[in-house]
Amino acid sequence: MERCMGHKVSVYIAALIIRASGFILNPDDPQQCGLPEVSHVGTRIIGGQEARPGSWPWMALLARHGQPVCGGSIITTRLILTAAHCFAKDVQEGNSLRDWRVYVGKHHVATKDSTEQSSNIRRLVLHPGFDNVTLLGDIAILELEDPVNFTSYVSPVCLPRGTGQVVPLGTYCYISGWGETQGSSNANVLNQATVPILHDYWCARADWYGAKFLYQATFCAGFKSGARDSCSGDSGGPLVCKADGRWYVQGVTSWGYGCAQPMFPGIYTDVSVYGDWIRAAAANLSATIRD
Ligand SMILES: *[C@@H]1O[C@H](CO)[C@@H](O)[C@H](O)[C@H]1NC(C)=O
Ligand SMILES: *[C@@H]1O[C@H](CO)[C@@H](O)[C@H](O)[C@H]1NC(C)=O
Ligand SMILES: *[C@@H]1O[C@H](CO)[C@@H](O)[C@H](O)[C@H]1NC(C)=O
Repeated sequence: MERCMGHKVSVYIAALIIRASGFILNPDDPQQCGLPEVSHVGTRIIGGQEARPGSWPWMALLARHGQPVCGGSIITTRLILTAAHCFAKDVQEGNSLRDWRVYVGKHHVATKDSTEQSSNIRRLVLHPGFDNVTLLGDIAILELEDPVNFTSYVSPVCLPRGTGQVVPLGTYCYISGWGETQGSSNANVLNQATVPILHDYWCARADWYGAKFLYQATFCAGFKSGARDSCSGDSGGPLVCKADGRWYVQGVTSWGYGCAQPMFPGIYTDVSVYGDWIRAAAANLSATIRD
């Protein structure tokens, strides 16, 4: 059900409090957020298509023991936004974050890209309200050991300001990831798909997700017929919508029944609901970053 392929850590609290310098630590700081230098290929994951390399420059690939597990989004040089469920099992079992590595500037999943950069994870902050059964609060922030360097292929996405959708319902937004494509596209590269954000009415219907759909903190996006969807391995990755010429991370890929099944579109953590938490957690992490 979860869109993670594998498992997901010890939550390490740094004792040293030393101010960082020269890095962008405030997610609202990067004036360059949400502005790729490479334009994406036009519309048309499941039912998706290969992304143009660099067109979603905030995409992060989260790998465990070298295996791709989840996606994420760059919000600052040090911080990656992702889904809590990617790490739930590791936290529960007390596994080390050392098993993980985060890649940015990446396109091919299995081979090295000339544009890629990578880092270990230093700390993980899961949303304190995360429920591993209902997947409520499926959002987390990773602090990287090595800050990423912004390039034409690596840059941050914008966080929504305030609550609610940054675009009207029905607007087509983009999902991207290295997850399962079920033969619909090249699984070795970053794929993208366009999906409309659906009115909560649909996913709350008894013949859709019913009460399992937690409309207060999630939204669903996709098609009544299935057609295009996120899938296993896409978890933690972004659903981005364009507003005022910039791309905002409106959703974090969370879960769904199957992939591209009729009446079971993808469910996304509504990032705008967690804006205050993200900013507070980012400030806490930044206050204790050691360099
Ligand atoms: C959810 O978390 C609780 C407490 O941390 C744990 O006991 C339980 O096994 C977890 N359930 C699943 C499905 O991972
Ligand atoms: C960013 O650049 C510095 C200096 O070249 C390098 O040491 C560091 O490893 C780079 N960061 C990443 C994540 O690759
Ligand atoms: C930030 O740190 C304060 C003080 O330790 C703590 O009370 C608060 O819960 C933290 N907030 C987040 C979002 O991590």
